[in-house]
Amino acid sequence: MSTIASLAHLSLFVAVCVGQTASRLAPKKYLSLPLGTVKPAGWLSDRVNPGQLSLLCLKVQAAGLAGHQREFYNYVSDGDWTGGSSAYSDLEEAGSYWFNGLVPTGVLANDASIQNQTQQFLEYVLDHQDSTGWIGPEVNTTKARYLWGRLLPHLIDPSIVCLGETKADPSQADRVVGAIWKFIQLANTMLDNDEGLEDWGRSRWEEFALTLQWIYDNYPNGQEDLLLNMMHKLKITGFPWEDIFAEANFPKTATEGLTSPFGDLAWHGVNVAEGLKALAVSYRFTQNKTELDIASAGWDIVFQYHGRPSGSFAADEYLAGLEAARGSELCMVVETMFSGSYLYQVIGDLKYADRVERITYNALPATLTGDMWSRQYLQQQNQIAAKNMNPDPFPRDGSYSNVFGLEPNYPCCTVNHPQGWPKFISNAFVLTPDKRSLVHVYLGPYSVNATLANNNHVAVTVDTLYPFSDTLTTTITADKPFKYYVRIPSWTSNGTVAVNNGAAHPVSPSNGLHSVAVEAGTTKITLNLPAEITTEERPHGAIAVHRGPLHYAYDIPRSQTVLARNTQQPLAVDLEFDATAAWQYAIDPSTLTFHAGTPESGKLPSPVFDSGLSPFTISVTACPIVWDVAGDTFASAPPESPACTGSPVNITLSPYGTTKLRISEFPVYSAT
Ligand SMILES: *[C@@H]1O[C@H](CO)[C@@H](O)[C@H](O)[C@H]1NC(C)=O
Ligand SMILES: *[C@@H]1O[C@H](CO)[C@@H](O)[C@H](O)[C@H]1NC(C)=O
Ligand SMILES: *[C@@H]1O[C@H](CO)[C@@H](O)[C@H](O)[C@H]1NC(C)=O
Ligand SMILES: *[C@@H]1O[C@H](CO)[C@@H](O)[C@H](O)[C@H]1NC(C)=O
Ligand SMILES: *[C@@H]1O[C@H](CO)[C@@H](O)[C@H](O)[C@H]1NC(C)=O
Ligand SMILES: *[C@@H]1O[C@H](CO)[C@@H](O)[C@H](O)[C@H]1NC(C)=O
Repeated sequence: MSTIASLAHLSLFVAVCVGQTASRLAPKKYLSLPLGTVKPAGWLSDRVNPGQLSLLCLKVQAAGLAGHQREFYNYVSDGDWTGGSSAYSDLEEAGSYWFNGLVPTGVLANDASIQNQTQQFLEYVLDHQDSTGWIGPEVNTTKARYLWGRLLPHLIDPSIVCLGETKADPSQADRVVGAIWKFIQLANTMLDNDEGLEDWGRSRWEEFALTLQWIYDNYPNGQEDLLLNMMHKLKITGFPWEDIFAEANFPKTATEGLTSPFGDLAWHGVNVAEGLKALAVSYRFTQNKTELDIASAGWDIVFQYHGRPSGSFAADEYLAGLEAARGSELCMVVETMFSGSYLYQVIGDLKYADRVERITYNALPATLTGDMWSRQYLQQQNQIAAKNMNPDPFPRDGSYSNVFGLEPNYPCCTVNHPQGWPKFISNAFVLTPDKRSLVHVYLGPYSVNATLANNNHVAVTVDTLYPFSDTLTTTITADKPFKYYVRIPSWTSNGTVAVNNGAAHPVSPSNGLHSVAVEAGTTKITLNLPAEITTEERPHGAIAVHRGPLHYAYDIPRSQTVLARNTQQPLAVDLEFDATAAWQYAIDPSTLTFHAGTPESGKLPSPVFDSGLSPFTISVTACPIVWDVAGDTFASAPPESPACTGSPVNITLSPYGTTKLRISEFPVYSAT
C-alpha cells in the first residue's frame, strides 16, 4: 500500500511541475453543450407529426419502462437508493443509475412528471447528507461505504441541471455544488486512507475522474490541485487499462477457460465498455499523448476480436468472442455509446462517431421492445428465440438473459438503459474549442439554440428521417457569420451538399467533417448521403449486411407468450418470443438490392423499431438449407458452404434494430 501511496505523490509532483499555468487539464478537441441545448427535433409538442426519430424515441422511452419505473420498481421506488434486498443492492447503484438516465430523459422529452421525480429524488438525497459529507443510503447505518455507486458519470452534472440551472434561483445550484464539494473532500480523505474502493470502483475509476473533471471545468472553487491529485490517485489505485488493452494481454477469443492477469473484472463487458475511455480521461490530467494512442488501439482491439455487426461487442458477462449466438449486454451497449462520445470529443477521430451512431441505431433498439416496456439483458446477432434457454449459450450468464422483460438476469440494465438515447442526443452537436463553430456529429433530427463566441446567437433545425432517409435539410439562423461543420460518415458514397438552393456539390470532408461558411441571417443546407450495400465477413464464412448507418437482418416471424406480469404495473411484462417460420437460409450476396420506401405521410410510424415498420429494406435471393438448432433454443454456428435443399426464394432484410428475432450472420451460396 505504501508503494502505491508514494507513487501517487510522485505522480502528482510530476503533474504539477510539468503542468501549464493556464490550465492543467488538457483541452478536449470539442466541447459538449449543456443538457437541453440540443433537443430532439423542433416539433416537441407536435403530437400530430410524430415522424422524427429522436423525439419519437425519447417520447416512447418516457412513456415506457424508463419513465415509469419509479412508480413501481422496487430498486428505485423508495425515497433513496435502497429497495431490493438482494446481494445486488450491496453497491447501492440503482438510484444513481436511474438518476443519471432520467434527468436527461425528463429534460429532453420535456416531461414534467419525470422532471418532478428526479427533483424529488435529488432533494431527498441532499436533505439526507450526513455531517461527514457522505451521500446515500449508508447514512446512519453500519453498511460499508463504497464510492462506486456514488460516482456514476455525470451524476453531478444532472444534479446541477435538475436542481440548479433549470430554475431561475442560482442559490439552488450553490446548494448542489456545496453538497458535492463536501462529498469530494470526504472522498479525498477516504482515498488517502485506502477506503471506499472495491473492484468495481477500481475498475471504473475513470468515471469518478470524469466527474471530478466536470467539477474542475465548471466549479473548481480554487481547489484545482486537490482535484488533480484525486484524479492521479484514482488512476494509480485503479485498473491498468493501458496494460489490459495491450496486444500481448488482450483475449483474442471468448474468455471462459482463460485467466486474466488483471483479475476477472478486467474482462467484464461493462467494465471494458466504460474502460474504453479511461486513457482519454487520464490524458487530460497527465497530458501524456501516448495515452490517446493507447485509447485508440484499445477501441480497435475490442471490436476486432469481440465486435458485432450491430456496432456493439460481445460479452455475456465476460468478453465472448465473435460467435453469433453469444450475447451483448444492454448496459454495455449504452456505456460504449457514452465512452465513444467522450472519445470523439477528446480525440476527434471519425471512427468513434461512426460506431456510436451504428450502435445507437442498431444494437440499442434491437434489445428493447418497440414500446420500450421490456428489455433484454443479452442480445444475440443470430437470435431464433427469446426464452428461458436450454441449454444456456451464455457460460457465465443465466438462461433467462435474452428474454424481453422487466429485469431479466440482473436489474442493472433496467435502471441503466435510459441514459442511452438522451446522452446520444445531447452529444449530437459539439462546439469547437474557440466556441465559434457548431459541429453536427450524430445525424438525425434536432433543434439547437446556442450562443457562440462573439455573442453570436445561432438556431439550427435539422429536418430528416435519417437513418431511414439519406437526406437532411438543415436550416440555420445566425446573428453573425460562422463556420458550421457536419460529420460525413465513412460509409457515405457520392455524398452531396447544396447551400441555399444552389447547385449540389460533392461533399469534401476534412477529418470527417464538411464545413459550410454560414452568413448572418438564414442559411439552408441540403445534404444527400447515399451509401452502397456492403458485406462484412463473419466466422464460418458467414456474412453480415450493411447499408449506411443501418445493419440488416432477416426478421423471423414470431409468436409471443407472456411469462410474467408485474403486479403493480401490468405494462411491465416478461415476453417469450418463438419463431413461427423457417429462418434456415443461405443468401446470394450478388442479389442484395436496396429498396428506399418513403412513408406516404412523410412521417415514420411510431414506434418505428418493430417488425415491418421500416421504410428501408433490402431484398436478397435465398435458399433453404439444413441449419441445426443447438439444444432447443439457439442457432448453431452458420453452416459453411451449405447445400440448397429447396428452390430459391426472395427474402426481405430489415434494419436490425426493428427485429426482435433474427438471422444477421448468413451462410452464403451462389445462385448462378
Ligand atoms: C411531484 O412529486 C411529488 C411527490 O411525489 C408530488 O406530491 C407532487 O404532486 C408532484 N408535483 C407535480 C407537479 O407533479
Ligand atoms: C442520523 O441520526 C441522527 C441521530 O439520530 C439524526 O439526528 C440525523 O438526522 C440522522 N440523519 C439522517 C440523514 O437521517
Ligand atoms: C506516457 O504513457 C505511456 C503509456 O502508459 C508510458 O509508457 C510513458 O511512460 C508515459 N510517459 C510519461 C512521460 O509519463
Ligand atoms: C433561442 O433562445 C433564445 C433565448 O432563450 C430565445 O429568445 C429564442 O426564441 C430561441 N430561438 C429559437 C429559434 O428557438
Ligand atoms: C456512386 O457513383 C458511382 C459512379 O457514378 C456509381 O457507380 C455508384 O452506384 C454510386 N453509388 C451510390 C451509393 O450512389
Ligand atoms: C424481391 O422482393 C422485393 C420486395 O418485395 C422486390 O422489390 C424485388 O423485385 C424482388 N426480387 C426478385 C428477384 O424477385
